[in-house]
Amino acid sequence: MDIEFVRSRFIKHFDGKTGNIYASPGRINLIGEHTDYNGGFVFPGAVDKGIMAEMRPNGTESTIRAYSIDLKDRVDFDFHDGKGPRASWARYIYGITLEMEKLGVPVKGFNIAFAGDVPLGAGMSSSAAMESCFACGLNDLFGDNKVSKWDMVLAGQATEHNYCGVNCGIMDQFASVFGQAGKLMRLDCRSREFEYFPFDPKGYKLVLLNSCVKHELAGSPYNDRRNSCENVVKHIAAKHPEGTFETLRDCTWEQLEEVRAEVGEEDYSRAHFVLGEKDRVLAVCDALVAGDYETVGKKMYETHEGLSKEYEVSCEELDFLNDIAKECGVTGSRIMGGGFGGCTINLVKDELYDDFIATAKKKYYEKYGKAPKVYDVIISDGSRKIC
Ligand code: GLA
Repeated sequence: MDIEFVRSRFIKHFDGKTGNIYASPGRINLIGEHTDYNGGFVFPGAVDKGIMAEMRPNGTESTIRAYSIDLKDRVDFDFHDGKGPRASWARYIYGITLEMEKLGVPVKGFNIAFAGDVPLGAGMSSSAAMESCFACGLNDLFGDNKVSKWDMVLAGQATEHNYCGVNCGIMDQFASVFGQAGKLMRLDCRSREFEYFPFDPKGYKLVLLNSCVKHELAGSPYNDRRNSCENVVKHIAAKHPEGTFETLRDCTWEQLEEVRAEVGEEDYSRAHFVLGEKDRVLAVCDALVAGDYETVGKKMYETHEGLSKEYEVSCEELDFLNDIAKECGVTGSRIMGGGFGGCTINLVKDELYDDFIATAKKKYYEKYGKAPKVYDVIISDGSRKIC
């Protein structure tokens, strides 16, 4: 993204002065979908696309003057007025400001202009990129950088929960804040322990195909899926007063079978997917250590199948892209992120890459009248101050 571009807009829309520039990335996730809020494992990495913001205190007590460069939309609001702005993009700024205040950062009024090159609604988490970018800026401008990385991750997640209506897990904000170039991260979402995994699969490429079906988690049944999982845990806990059951992470296949009739087929299938996904992430970790990309790919296809049939977060277009990947002999392919649209992530042998991309574009265009967008994955650094 272009620093000068953001700076020129910041100068033009405010008082001609410059501020500091911060950037945060979107993310990919190799495997481990809908496991984060179930206390399981995820395998994300930050990408080379994200959000860049210029920010500067404006001398007021609590007035935020915000400009979205991409939407060409300006919103001014008082973050202590108890309701905040209505524009959904500005609610991320409002929410993270209040969450950073809760963490003890003495935030005052500021001007902000931002732009992004992470596609919106593509499942690459443009919203987490915004939250962590703004958190990074507020921490630096007002908080002497005393807020820890983990607290910024949690502030971003709380912004989603409290101001944007999405009861998400912590994967996206974690990846955006902690990302490192060339490395994926295996995160245990229960203990929050994580490990960096250098990711350089010789002979393969990771590529995203954007179905261009916009995914919008706030308006999607994302929260319903989470409720289903929590319902199953409640039933298992009631049957086993001797144990501690916080999330599906604590539950076994046998326990799930025990409550099948009482929770009903729909919740049962959701939980069945999550238990399977928990095992798949661990299998993929072993396979990566062994350099066994065939197994990694096989697990990706299994995840797609589960997300589509059991968790029911796919759509016709994503299933179509997955089928094309299979037909082209792609090693692994699946829906990435929350689902309901967005991208597939594909692990493709170098020699099949050109044919796969050309075929997917052609067939998708023939069927849906538009070509999928193609993004080569470049694993990059997390949130940072640029200047
Ligand atoms: C969205 C959420 C994440 C995670 C994924 C699914 O991206 O923000 O917390 O639940 O969906 O893995």
